[in-house]
Amino acid sequence: MKLAVVGPGAIGGTVAAHLIRSGHDPILCARTAFQRLVVETPQGVIEARPKVTTDPHAARPVDWVLVATKTYEVEAAALWLDRLVGPSTWVAVLQNGVEHVGRFAGQVPAGRLVPVVVEIPAERSGPGVMVQRRDGWMKVPDGQGGRAFCALFDSVGVDVSVDPDWCSVAWRKLAVNCAGAVNALTGKPARISARDDVADLMRALVAECVAVGRAEGAALSDDLPDQVVAQYRASPPDSINSLLADRLASRPMEWDARNGIIARLGERHGIATPLNRMAATLLSAME
Ligand SMILES: NC(=O)c1ccc[n+]([C@@H]2O[C@H](COP(=O)([O-])OP(=O)(O)OC[C@H]3O[C@@H](n4cnc5c(N)ncnc54)[C@H](OP(=O)(O)O)[C@@H]3O)[C@@H](O)[C@H]2O)c1
Repeated sequence: MKLAVVGPGAIGGTVAAHLIRSGHDPILCARTAFQRLVVETPQGVIEARPKVTTDPHAARPVDWVLVATKTYEVEAAALWLDRLVGPSTWVAVLQNGVEHVGRFAGQVPAGRLVPVVVEIPAERSGPGVMVQRRDGWMKVPDGQGGRAFCALFDSVGVDVSVDPDWCSVAWRKLAVNCAGAVNALTGKPARISARDDVADLMRALVAECVAVGRAEGAALSDDLPDQVVAQYRASPPDSINSLLADRLASRPMEWDARNGIIARLGERHGIATPLNRMAATLLSAME
């Protein structure tokens, strides 16, 4: 089984480390070269000297490509896919948002793409150096690709499962992520959600997401806005979501995959989404 991980950052590096520990030998397709992969996981530290390449032109087709770049790095990932994808390659997209398939549909046949909702809290402190904060999970749609992805992770030590209603899983995650715009906009960690006026704004962002998600076919409960606020309020007050972390580090932010998408799809369905539109506009203006 030949594997490649495109974008071995917090998620790609962590998943690659688990694969390596269970005996796989993935090629890590990186932008920044590194020699050692060191990942602190809840089960202990995984250290490896994986194959790392930074040259897309030297890549050859593999059985599985796991794409774990940020959502806005589609063109960069596409350069790798040009070389890594052959007629029988599966491409799993480990990213946030709800557009996993759409992002690469022009390049990889939709039937060979496996969208993955990732709930693995991981941070990167440097090239090849990551911390996985807690055990997490990945969910894929039912179907040939989803089942093949589960089989790939059989005995790897990461909870990977099929969900027949994957669309709803992805939108529920988007509901949490869209509310996180308040942290990046205020520059404040999770504790800002303790303010009732901010919590009301978060609920309103999520309510727009619920309306658009339902129009897209997701089953989302009426109390999802309250659930999301409760989740933020229960998290450590100093915790920083990736949108805020990216803003603080002056990196590009995933505002389009987290808020812009709700505005874009809302427009298609005739649903007003002024708050998500404003969040996307302001975050993009900050970059
Ligand atoms: N981190 C989490 O806890 C978490 C949880 C759930 C979902 N997600 C989602 O998972 C996705 C990945 O996030 P992340 O946190 O892992 O991001 P990340 O740590 O920034 O990793 C992205 C990686 O892509 C690499 N990259 C960029 N351009 C590249 C190119 N041209 N060729 C090869 N590699 C390239 C980056 O390389 P450099 O080293 O050069 O920057 C970096 O290693 C995002 O959609 C995120 O929202 C993250």
